[in-house]
Amino acid sequence: MTTIRQIAQQMTTFGKGILAADESIGTMSSRLKNAGVEPTALSRRDYRELLATAPDLAYGVSGIIFCDETLNQTFADGTPFPDACRARGILPGIKVDTGAKPCPGLPGETVTEGLDGLAERLAEYAKTGAAFAKWRAVFTITDNTPSRGSIVTNANALARYAAACQEAGLVPIVEPEVLMAGAHGIGRCTEVTAAVHQSVREQLALLNVDLAGIVLKPNMVTEGDDHPHPATPDEVAAATVDVLRSWPGDLAGVAFLSGGQPPQRATANLAAMQSYDTPWPLTFSFGRALVSPALAAWRGDEERIGDGQAALSAHVAANAAAVRMRGELQSV
Ligand code: G3H
Repeated sequence: MTTIRQIAQQMTTFGKGILAADESIGTMSSRLKNAGVEPTALSRRDYRELLATAPDLAYGVSGIIFCDETLNQTFADGTPFPDACRARGILPGIKVDTGAKPCPGLPGETVTEGLDGLAERLAEYAKTGAAFAKWRAVFTITDNTPSRGSIVTNANALARYAAACQEAGLVPIVEPEVLMAGAHGIGRCTEVTAAVHQSVREQLALLNVDLAGIVLKPNMVTEGDDHPHPATPDEVAAATVDVLRSWPGDLAGVAFLSGGQPPQRATANLAAMQSYDTPWPLTFSFGRALVSPALAAWRGDEERIGDGQAALSAHVAANAAAVRMRGELQSV
């Protein structure tokens, strides 16, 4: 039987990343609408099938994260998504949180929910063929936030989710995301990301989560969206790796979210990270930085499926090339 440690290693295998195609029905529908596509269960299915069938996707992608709707859908030829992905050498994963909701007691802050009935849902997802799961906690930087209460509450939920996944035989992707919204500098993002990670580590340890059987999905450490001076890839890489250094060497791997960065910037930052000698791989688990160009190229037109796939493949190839630089940079 494949163990969760082996699955986690497959997910972060050298030269590959994870494709995040797990937008909720609401988010996906509004993105489709903005691209001129009528949002229906069928158009959402067609779009995810376009992504999953991009030629040679498995060269740069080890796994795809889906939402509940897609995991239970079939390709146009009737093959269930999980089976079709596995047949292509790609592990299927499932987003299991139910979103960030207002956190009682902490006005303006959120807690990610989805713990109720989680064990039962995970058992179902495992039967459906999922190999891994994802849970995203979000933290907003302002002068007064994130509060200690929001950090600890969200870190505890992440740990409860991670422990439940490991008991169900699924690898948890643990995603604490410090959002880019705001005018803060990179120093403030460093401080907040470090505090969040410390709390996540503490909570994971309290629940005996095996770090070799999780994939950490953090934000890159950057300035806020409204800050006037964008940090360079070298500055982002130095600040990000500095924060990550507190994670023990047995962590299976780190797969970054893109967080709304322009695709080229996310790739350049990822490439800059590769010159650092870290005990865990540093790869990508991008959503928007991979799929936005594909949606823009496709726009719901059957005749442009190839264009959509070419756009996805180009961005997957660029990020796979970035992470493959690790071998070259570290062998000199
Ligand atoms: O939860 C967020 C996704 O998994 C990653 O999305 O790369 O667009 O930030 P992103």
